[in-house]
Amino acid sequence: MTVEDWQLYRRVRLAALQEAPYAFGSNYEHEATFEEATWRRRVADRTRFVAEVDGVVAGTVSGGEGEVNGAAAMTAMWVDPRYRRQGVGEVLVKTLLEWAKAKGYGQMFLWVTAVNPRAEHLYAQHGFTRTGASQEVRPGELEYEMSRHL
Ligand SMILES: CC(C)(COP(=O)(O)OP(=O)(O)OC[C@H]1O[C@@H](n2cnc3c(N)ncnc32)[C@H](O)[C@@H]1OP(=O)(O)O)[C@@H](O)C(=O)NCCC(=O)NCCS
Repeated sequence: MTVEDWQLYRRVRLAALQEAPYAFGSNYEHEATFEEATWRRRVADRTRFVAEVDGVVAGTVSGGEGEVNGAAAMTAMWVDPRYRRQGVGEVLVKTLLEWAKAKGYGQMFLWVTAVNPRAEHLYAQHGFTRTGASQEVRPGELEYEMSRHL
C-alpha cells in the first residue's frame, strides 16, 4: 500500500482491531480517534500489504525494522473471518518472508499473544519458534516473541 491508500489501511486496520482485539497490543477505541495525518504516517512507517480474493480485501500484514540490527519485524497480521482457512494467512506470511529476504534482512521477529494459538500455529508452520522472550500485552496477559532466520 502507498500513503494514498491510507483510507483502505484505516478500514482494514480498524476492522482487525474490532474483530480480533485479543490478537493485538493496540485497541479499536484508541486507533479510531486517529486523524488523517496519523494514518498517512502509519501507512508510510512500515511496508503494508493487503491480500485480495476476487478483488475483495481479505487480509493484511505489515513489515518493518526489527528491534535487533539486521532483523525485520512482522506485525498487524489479520485475515477477515470470511476468508480464513483458505490459505490467505499463509500467502501473507510468505509474502512478508519474501519481502524481508529481498530487503536483505537475515532474521524476522514477531509477537503473538498467549491466547492466540491459531496464529502461533501458522507461524510455527513457517519456521518460527519462540525465542523465550515474553512481555505483558495487557495486565495479566502475556505475548510471546517468535523468530526465524531468513
Ligand atoms: C491467524 C490467522 C491470520 C490465520 O489466517 P488464515 O487465513 O486462516 O490462515 P491459513 O488459511 O493460511 O491457515 C490456517 C489453517 O487453514 C488451513 N487451510 C489452508 N487452506 C485451506 C483450504 N483450502 N481448506 C481448508 N483448510 C485450509 C491451513 O492448513 C491451516 O490449518 P491448520 O491450522 O489446521 O494447520 C487468522 O486466523 C486471523 O486473522 N486471526 C485473527 C487475527 C490474528 O490472530 N492475527 C495474528 C496476530 S499475531
